[in-house]
Amino acid sequence: MKIAILPGDGIGTEIVAEAVKVLKALDLKFELEEAKVGGAAYDAHGHPLPEATLKLAKESDAILFGAVGDWKYDKLDRPLRPEQASLGLRKHLGLFANFRPAICYEQLTHASSLKPELVAGLDILIIRELTGDIYFGQPRGRRVSPDGHFPGAEEAFDTMRYTRPEIERIARVAFEAARKRGKRVTSVDKANVLETFQLWKDVVTEVHAKEYADIALDHMYVDNAAMQLVKEPKRFDVVVTGNMFGDILSDEASMLTGSIGMLPSASLNDKKQGLYEPSHGSAPDIAGKGVANPLATILSAAMMLRFSLNQPEAADRIEAAVKKVLAQGLRTPDIYSEGTTKVGTREMGDAVVKAVG
Ligand code: IPM
Ligand code: MG
Repeated sequence: MKIAILPGDGIGTEIVAEAVKVLKALDLKFELEEAKVGGAAYDAHGHPLPEATLKLAKESDAILFGAVGDWKYDKLDRPLRPEQASLGLRKHLGLFANFRPAICYEQLTHASSLKPELVAGLDILIIRELTGDIYFGQPRGRRVSPDGHFPGAEEAFDTMRYTRPEIERIARVAFEAARKRGKRVTSVDKANVLETFQLWKDVVTEVHAKEYADIALDHMYVDNAAMQLVKEPKRFDVVVTGNMFGDILSDEASMLTGSIGMLPSASLNDKKQGLYEPSHGSAPDIAGKGVANPLATILSAAMMLRFSLNQPEAADRIEAAVKKVLAQGLRTPDIYSEGTTKVGTREMGDAVVKAVG
């Protein structure tokens, strides 16, 4: 089993180091190889996704990814910005299925900005299509506007598009995931306005009727879904949606759980090769201070063991260890509340290592 370790920028290096410690504490044999990505790779090699990093990612069974980005790269041309590393890995490895669970841990019910009774026991899985939609659709660019309200004016444009097979395969991923949990799927679209999402809705409905009659399917417009997520989040089981809506809704859902510092994610291709990363970003404001919460990355390593490395028992062990350290009252500042014990990144990692053993 070969794992590419790509810590990236900001708190990425600190949190990935803790997850690597936890992986090493398992009695399993991995080959771990580290490479630079994002701003760190730009600084060292002049590109956020150097050839060597991409090659390593391609030949690995799984990628453990920290985070990329820092304000100091905002002025670079778009192709050189750290975020392009994420987009490039998604595209070149075909990582079309993005799993973003939003789970509210019992001990953190009070850390949510919503009333505890709305989020207690929350367990939603957002499945975001990750290689299509307006993120990757061509053509895109800048030009002189040929028509519209201001012909002749400077204009920018992107293209929203989905093909039938792209929708079919992500729909199947969602229905299969639902089969292993609450057996309900909500497909989120904007079919009332957009052609792209009328096709989305039609195809999801067809796949459901032909192959997944045992799963309950409903459809929701994205604006309503955004509202329902804060009104009655527990009504959802699996949510499946496109790249752009999934980006927005998954950030919204993450806050229901109290802290984005707790949420792992997985991005898979059709060979079950996957990139695993925390749902949060590089948090340059707290980088290097030793206060970042490593649990989302540690839980991402657990997802990696389950989805790409076929080691479900090891994944269970990590998840149980995380619950144990929370029960012990250990908290990084992002999830701290009175009566608990505030710890730093490294202490939290050490506690999980101990609990795994
Ligand atoms: C995410 C991020 C990325 C996205 C950015 C960093 C390109 O927001 O993974 O959700 O928009 O997909
Ligand atoms: Mg996002």
